[in-house]
Amino acid sequence: MKASDRIFVALDTVDVERAVALSEQLRGAIGGVKIGKEFFTACGPQGYRRVADVGMPVFLDLKFHDIPNTVAGAVRAALKLKPFMLNVHASGGAAMLRAAADAAAEAGDERPILLAVTVLTSLSAPDLAVMGIGTSLPQQVTRLATMARDCGLDGVVCSCAELMALRGACGPGFKLVVPGIRPSWSVIDDHKRTISPADAIALGADYLVIGRPITHADNPAEAAQRICDEIAGLADAG
Ligand code: C5P
Repeated sequence: MKASDRIFVALDTVDVERAVALSEQLRGAIGGVKIGKEFFTACGPQGYRRVADVGMPVFLDLKFHDIPNTVAGAVRAALKLKPFMLNVHASGGAAMLRAAADAAAEAGDERPILLAVTVLTSLSAPDLAVMGIGTSLPQQVTRLATMARDCGLDGVVCSCAELMALRGACGPGFKLVVPGIRPSWSVIDDHKRTISPADAIALGADYLVIGRPITHADNPAEAAQRICDEIAGLADAG
């Protein structure tokens, strides 16, 4: 994989024209774009298609979480959009994860990479305790990730703090997709904990989700190229 293929840029906007313009500026410099709940709720499948038509792989970050039948239906509906990656919440349980994996498999050769979200990084250890979860946060993350792997999912979205443990627990082929990436030259924004692109790759990340350091840069393509240069060599071999 080329270094640039590992970078997915978060299009966190409700403005279709801005999302399309950014995608056009970044085409060739990054691996793909991420469309999340904000954009999809505002702009729908039509907006998604406008972005996808620019010609880059899309990570559809809708984090499905419902009963197995409903999640399977949502995954099937998402397949029509031909996303490169798609995700669900692991805490929906094993039956839900298997239903999602079975539905994704219906796409055959065009099956997207199916990821699980384990514990949201906005949750802390005390939050888990309030929810009645007695295990430690790292243990809960690892437990949900291995369950997702055993149910046929391809990987997880995880924080930089979890990279090493999950690479060890889930094996080399399991995809680790990491947000909260901040190059040394960019501002941290609202993240509590960040990691540089090079360190994330060195610790085993497969894909980096990066938003504002690229989308808010004066020259987004130049910022993306700078990040590619920082991970080139580390990232080319994987
Ligand atoms: O602009 P920034 O680089 O912070 O954007 C990160 C992206 O990753 C956002 O779309 C955010 O919703 C997403 N994210 C995530 N999981 C986290 C933290 C951020 O999916 N734990």
